[in-house]
Amino acid sequence: MFTEGQVVVHECLGDEEQRLRRLVLKGPIAQTAKAGQFVAIQVQDSSISSFDPLLRRPISLAEISSERNEISLLYRIQGRGTEILARAKCGEKLSIMGPLGQGFSLPETGELWLIAGGIGIFPLYPLAQRALSQGLKVRLFWGGENQSFLNSAGLSSWQVLGIPIYLSTLDGSLGQRGLVTGQAQELLEKHKLSDGEIRVATCGPKKMMQAVTELCITTRVPVEVSLEERMGCAVGACLGCVCTLIDEKGTLIHKKVCQDGPVFRGEEVVWDESC
Ligand SMILES: Cc1cc2nc3c(=O)[nH]c(=O)nc-3n(C[C@H](O)[C@H](O)[C@H](O)COP(=O)(O)OP(=O)(O)OC[C@H]3O[C@@H](n4cnc5c(N)ncnc54)[C@H](O)[C@@H]3O)c2cc1C
Ligand code: FES
Repeated sequence: MFTEGQVVVHECLGDEEQRLRRLVLKGPIAQTAKAGQFVAIQVQDSSISSFDPLLRRPISLAEISSERNEISLLYRIQGRGTEILARAKCGEKLSIMGPLGQGFSLPETGELWLIAGGIGIFPLYPLAQRALSQGLKVRLFWGGENQSFLNSAGLSSWQVLGIPIYLSTLDGSLGQRGLVTGQAQELLEKHKLSDGEIRVATCGPKKMMQAVTELCITTRVPVEVSLEERMGCAVGACLGCVCTLIDEKGTLIHKKVCQDGPVFRGEEVVWDESC
């Protein structure tokens, strides 16, 4: 569970103004990690001996290469923890916990529709790769602020997969103007069961995932969502990441995002209470 990853690449992704970084770590974790899982990475400054900040930061696995023994983490510099992380240099060894959590599941046949908002795209790439290698059809709906964001956050690596991609931006600089849910709604409503079965996997802001879930319930399409919560221990001990779900009998239950998730069935999430 506790392991080290040696920094082999740490670079800015696209436009500097997007504050996105790609961190590639070499280490044994690449042999056991699966799409949709995450690591809890220590973000203490190695040049000053201090335990501050104490809490590790959860970051999804954006690429897993067991052949190269490498994992890639893509992250946005948000606050203090990721600012410290951004200073890690090539050759440095970082303490990581993982792989953690339960990832997305894949249908045996049919189509997988990925619906991503902003940096919610990052954990979906290894899922798309796995789905394509199993012969599933994959479509991507992705919304972001503007063209600079989508390009910086890896649009070209999605384009090489050769899948249908539906883009939207808030300012209309690339794809359709507006929210990602608009395009997905249009196509989900047109879809007939005779066209084949679909499953949706979504990751992004909570409001977006809630809207996607409501849409999937209306169109009777199964959906999995990846919840994000501030984490303490990241291994199920501190109850810092508990969210509320509803089971098949209608009973409210509590689960831990770090251990039981971060991926849950959209229909079981109580959106107004959880996380
Ligand atoms: C399962 C999971 C996977 C994630 N994957 C990615 C990823 O692939 N790329 C990425 O850029 N970000 C990811 N995040 C979010 C990332 O963990 C936070 O952005 C990061 O912890 C911010 O830390 P900070 O110290 O820089 O910012 P802070 O100054 O601590 O906070 C900045 C923002 O980040 C949120 N945040 C802070 N700490 C956490 C935490 N421990 N858990 C959740 N949210 C937090 C705060 O609510 C605040 O909105 C993921 C979060 C979870 C729960
Ligand atoms: S973060 Fe401690 S229980 Fe999930």
